[in-house]
Amino acid sequence: MASPSNSLLILTVACFVSLISPAISQTCNSQNLGSAAPYEKCMDLPVLDSYLHYTYDASNSSLSVAFVATPTQTNGWIAWGINPTGTKMAGTQAFLAYRSRAGAAPVVTTYNISGYNLDETARTLNFEFWNLRAESLRSGAIVIFTTVKVPAGDDGVNQVWQIGGTVTNGRPSIHGNAQGNLNSHNMLSFTADAPSSAPTPATGGSTTPGQAAGGPGNAGNAGSLTTNLNFGVNLGILVLLGSVFIF
Ligand SMILES: *[C@@H]1O[C@H](CO)[C@@H](O)[C@H](O)[C@H]1NC(C)=O
Ligand SMILES: *[C@@H]1O[C@H](CO)[C@@H](O)[C@H](O)[C@H]1NC(C)=O
Repeated sequence: MASPSNSLLILTVACFVSLISPAISQTCNSQNLGSAAPYEKCMDLPVLDSYLHYTYDASNSSLSVAFVATPTQTNGWIAWGINPTGTKMAGTQAFLAYRSRAGAAPVVTTYNISGYNLDETARTLNFEFWNLRAESLRSGAIVIFTTVKVPAGDDGVNQVWQIGGTVTNGRPSIHGNAQGNLNSHNMLSFTADAPSSAPTPATGGSTTPGQAAGGPGNAGNAGSLTTNLNFGVNLGILVLLGSVFIF
């Protein structure tokens, strides 16, 4: 028979495991961005199967990012940006990448977005950036790398990301308006720990980026870990309820 103190110990351990597990279950932790310098933090963005690896350098007030997302079609686009004046698309200073044809190296460009229709001439961003480039991952994902200057003292930025339609003669067509496309923005805090994993889609794996240079991807692992986590939490709650009844 378990004594009350043993039950309490088990409960404590279960709660502790539940608390630390989300970090382990992040998909971004298993993404290999190849030769790129390692980033301090990464996060599974909550929608559009997208990921952000980032390092904030307070001494230079700069933010280095690697944004990972998978276009939904051969010459579809992905984009990541910062909105210094709002939270959604309008006002976003964006980096947009696409492959002009299957197998082509991705092209990356900038847009100063003022409204729903992209102005092809508005390419100058209102902050400094450098080291902008894009790479393909084996999985089909595209990674946008860049470093941007952020206002000194700011402890976060409003980030906006998107996966869109085809790019024809360099012109990106509109993105869809599913929930994911409408909710693809949030506050990126430089000081807070990266938020825990996004819910993993039930289909699992198909859009999980693999290794940049060979080696198997990690499709599926994150999904099963998340399932285990949810099971663990539910079990923890059941144990807690059980304890309330017994004691
Ligand atoms: C610091 O910021 C400047 C732009 O203000 C940039 O040119 C320089 O490369 C940055 N240094 C590092 C180490 O990122
Ligand atoms: C970006 O676009 C806005 C709205 O058209 C404009 O006011 C601003 O000057 C532009 N920024 C730059 C750096 O061109």
